[in-house]
Amino acid sequence: MNTLLEVRESRDHLARTVPGIARAADAHASRPRRARARFLMCAPAHFTVDYAINPWMEAGAGRVDAARAMSQWTLLREVIGRHADVECLAPVPGLPDLPFTANAGLVHGSIAVPSRFRHRERRGEEALNARWFVQAGFDVRALPEGPCVEGAGDALFDDVLDVLWMGHGVRSDVAAAPALAAIVGVEVRPLRLVDPRFYHLDTCFCPLPGGALLWYPPAFDAASRRWVEASIDASRRIAVDAGDAFAFACNAICLGSAIVLHRASGQLKQGLDDLGFTAIETPLDEFHKSGGSAKCLTLALPGT
Ligand code: ARG
Repeated sequence: MNTLLEVRESRDHLARTVPGIARAADAHASRPRRARARFLMCAPAHFTVDYAINPWMEAGAGRVDAARAMSQWTLLREVIGRHADVECLAPVPGLPDLPFTANAGLVHGSIAVPSRFRHRERRGEEALNARWFVQAGFDVRALPEGPCVEGAGDALFDDVLDVLWMGHGVRSDVAAAPALAAIVGVEVRPLRLVDPRFYHLDTCFCPLPGGALLWYPPAFDAASRRWVEASIDASRRIAVDAGDAFAFACNAICLGSAIVLHRASGQLKQGLDDLGFTAIETPLDEFHKSGGSAKCLTLALPGT
């Protein structure tokens, strides 16, 4: 297991390479360039699996060890805290999926688009998330009536291409793509998800700093796979195998050259290393019972 000490990144470099942060700085071009990454998290004080809105939850129902979940989350927060600031949303009883803050909304610089969830089980989170974005000073934009978009779980900015990759077909609706493009001013490239176990884009696709990509191709339909392959050179694409994919390796947090995830095989570590990245492993299997891992437990915010 790699230690954080092996990761040597100046804060400036971090600001340039963490997806979203550089863009956030661009969006505030008149202000000085921001240096420290920032994430929104929510402690799993009320985290359980007592309904099932994805296949992981069917197997995980009633099996969460609350104390273990809390210590895994606390460790993740600590790992992130060494590279970035962490803000916390207050946990709320009866909203067990609130710790998955990636689904709170889509953030681009000072703009936030609060999510509309597919399943009624998570709709109670919507007003709460919207309120958080307002009080945090975001320019909050509403989705058009109708389509669901589950925030940064299904919408990931490429670090080099001026592109927002959007997952659809399970939770988010492709009908929202034009509205999202208009709101964030970036081309949206919809990718169709075809395996219910990889129901959010961030479970199987992770744009890396500098334009590389970690992904699990079988989670996409053929046309989407071709689009990704035509957009990103083969030398910069790491296709993970099923073992890594089912251990949520693509659900990774990028902090400069440090890639924080639950676990990576030797082969994946080597692949990352070849592209200049270091895998930082931190156990998150309690959250796998709900269908989430490292990245879903965070939402990247503009830096401070
Ligand atoms: N139980 C949650 C759900 O099914 C997990 C969400 C994971 N979030 C993510 N961005 N992949 O909605």
